[in-house]
Amino acid sequence: MNICVTGGAGFIGSHLVDRLIKEGHRVQVIDNLSSGLREFVNPKADFVELDIRDAKILDVFQDFQPDYVFHEAAQTVVGESMVNPTEDCDINLMGLLNLLQASVKVGVKKFLMPSSAAVYGDLETLPLTEELQGIPRSCYGLTKLTTEGYLRIYEESFGLPYICYRYANVYGPRQGNGGEGGVISIFCEQVAKGETLVVYGDGTQTRDFVYVDDVVEANLLGLRDDVTGIINVSTGTGISLNDLMNTLEEITNTTINREYQEPRIGDIKHSLLSTKKASQVLGYAPTWSLRDGLEKTYHYVKDNM
Ligand SMILES: NC(=O)c1ccc[n+]([C@@H]2O[C@H](COP(=O)([O-])OP(=O)(O)OC[C@H]3O[C@@H](n4cnc5c(N)ncnc54)[C@H](O)[C@@H]3O)[C@@H](O)[C@H]2O)c1
Repeated sequence: MNICVTGGAGFIGSHLVDRLIKEGHRVQVIDNLSSGLREFVNPKADFVELDIRDAKILDVFQDFQPDYVFHEAAQTVVGESMVNPTEDCDINLMGLLNLLQASVKVGVKKFLMPSSAAVYGDLETLPLTEELQGIPRSCYGLTKLTTEGYLRIYEESFGLPYICYRYANVYGPRQGNGGEGGVISIFCEQVAKGETLVVYGDGTQTRDFVYVDDVVEANLLGLRDDVTGIINVSTGTGISLNDLMNTLEEITNTTINREYQEPRIGDIKHSLLSTKKASQVLGYAPTWSLRDGLEKTYHYVKDNM
């Protein structure tokens, strides 16, 4: 099948592209390389260096005729969305609409993309399930929530089926330090350099860290015709930052210096997403343990510093 992956030079998108090519699909990557790297793009993919807001997207789609679109390109930095909300909105919503319009025109069968745990805000009902009404606390979270609404309307009004995945904290090789979930790549780099790890708070705060290959698997399961809508992608397990550092100590066989500082304003204490719906409708089950995923990520970071 012809599959277009926007953001295919980025962290998650590039892993998705590798897997789709392995499965025998013809893959097109659209990326403006603003944070992604050309070297991450699988050489077997057709690479188009283009901004998702560009009107040429329609021509590119008309030439390639994608059956499916995975839209991973985005402004992904929560803090940046607060400093520059117009740019966040422009990329994450105007870019989305440009792609949706082109997808409808060329008859794309399904549009699959991430939302984020950020749409839930700091709801305390854990684990977080898809039907909960989130209250985003950042402009990034709000553009992701609005994304979900646009996808619903494009399905209802223009017949474009979609899946919108609410990713938890994704980690793995090729992750940059800036976007969501970056704490693992930051910690891995600091440990590899022998630096002290700075923890905001007492380290008991928990996150739902999901390895990138599990996220890719959930995306592939979404190609089935009978599933649409909003689905969490997570592990359903909360890991504290203290446990994360302990596991890194085991993997590296070192003692990590830790510096605990005051919690940052706005930081959520616990984030945990239910996997129940993903399991029921997609047959998804995370397969990577934190230890295995962390080990792979650590060695990647160390070898690529
Ligand atoms: N990493 C996480 O933990 C996480 C969690 C929740 C949701 N997400 C979402 O997953 C998606 C992928 O995130 P990632 O972590 O791989 O980020 P990333 O920054 O590694 O990848 C994003 C890619 O999009 C490209 N891009 C950005 N703006 C563009 C534009 N205007 N036109 C064309 N290309 C553009 C970048 O060059 C980059 O290659 C994003 O939608 C992000 O919001 C990520």
